Amino acid sequence: MKSQDLIALEELYGAQNYRPLDVVVQTAQGVWVTDVDGKKYLDCLAAYSAVNQGHCHPKIYEAFVEQARHVTLTSRAFRNDQLPLLYKKLHELTGYDMSLPMNSGAEAVETAIKTARRWGYDVKGIPENQAEIVVASGNFHGRTTTIVGFSDDPSSFKGFGPYCTEAFPMHEYGNIEDLKTKINQNTCGILIEPIQGEGGVVIPPEGYLKAVEEICRENDILFICDEIQAGLGRSGKLFAHYYENVRPDIVIIGKALSGGFYPVSAILADRHILRVIKPGEHGSTFGGNPLAAAVAVRALEVMEEEHLIERSAELGEHFAAGLRAIPSPYITHVRARGLWIGLVLDTGARPICEALKREGILCKDTHENIIRFAPPLVITKEEIDWALERIKDVLTTK
Ligand SMILES: Cc1ncc(COP(=O)(O)O)c(C=O)c1O
Repeated sequence: MKSQDLIALEELYGAQNYRPLDVVVQTAQGVWVTDVDGKKYLDCLAAYSAVNQGHCHPKIYEAFVEQARHVTLTSRAFRNDQLPLLYKKLHELTGYDMSLPMNSGAEAVETAIKTARRWGYDVKGIPENQAEIVVASGNFHGRTTTIVGFSDDPSSFKGFGPYCTEAFPMHEYGNIEDLKTKINQNTCGILIEPIQGEGGVVIPPEGYLKAVEEICRENDILFICDEIQAGLGRSGKLFAHYYENVRPDIVIIGKALSGGFYPVSAILADRHILRVIKPGEHGSTFGGNPLAAAVAVRALEVMEEEHLIERSAELGEHFAAGLRAIPSPYITHVRARGLWIGLVLDTGARPICEALKREGILCKDTHENIIRFAPPLVITKEEIDWALERIKDVLTTK
């Protein structure tokens, strides 16, 4: 079937909860994807950073197929021989005592919320049902009703209420003085993204993460850091919060944890926090299954073996410098951390993404006037230069 036929089917039978670019991907390898009509594109989105290791990475593929031959799902009613290895790998990689695996990012965020609240009641002594978690303006943490209930983006929350907004006071992202006014004796957690991805690669002012950590320490509050998009190398460090040398109490990961093969997410925390969750109080049929665990271990190994974090730091600087050098009247600002770049335009971003698509580059607009470039971290300097030439053409001849 050709693109137009497949698009027609999708429009007819599928819910319209996305507005994808009209490219119908059939195969992908590394940084390149090919559509059903045989046209090749450089993927500059990497499935929102889920395929940091590159599409269909052969080593992860091998682990995936190998594990699928043995056992894919046991549920947590029984133990399996892969999950302990993922726990160990996450501990060794991150230094946190323990982890709790889930599937999607939103589920891991929910897990962090439940853990923080439970800690608030059992350890901090907050009266039942009064725990509060302070969130940030411009946040994106997923799509469950609890999570969209503390979004300030109407396209996320409008029409899906009622919500419990008093349980999630919002401070202005990056503004410590405002944050201080939002905490009280019932605050059990402060939940932030170290860099806001869906917000358009928004980097908070220097010192913000450190100040959040201090506020948490001084007031007996858990610092919860959502690294689902920012983490695992995307920002040029293992975690984006490393830029300020902080150690959150709970770190939430997902996306690249599976290299794009399978939804795998988790929260990381030390024993004295995660032990608040007791048997039977939280879980998921698929969370921590052997296929997910085998894939995640391999995906993390690939990140290390192929030095993807270092590549992200080095090549990100090259990509950002190239974008900054484009003499375009439409570029307002380039925000970058590693291979994670928000190109802020003073024109609509969607038509630019459409034009880039015609040139063979896939990327995504966010918030009307921002384009996010986040290619798989296996991209080469030559491929970045190839992309820069085309981006320059589009942005200087629009
Ligand atoms: C920071 C952050 N948190 C949570 C999520 C939700 O993850 P998922 O789409 O896997 O539920 C996302 C997704 O983009 C994200 O960027």
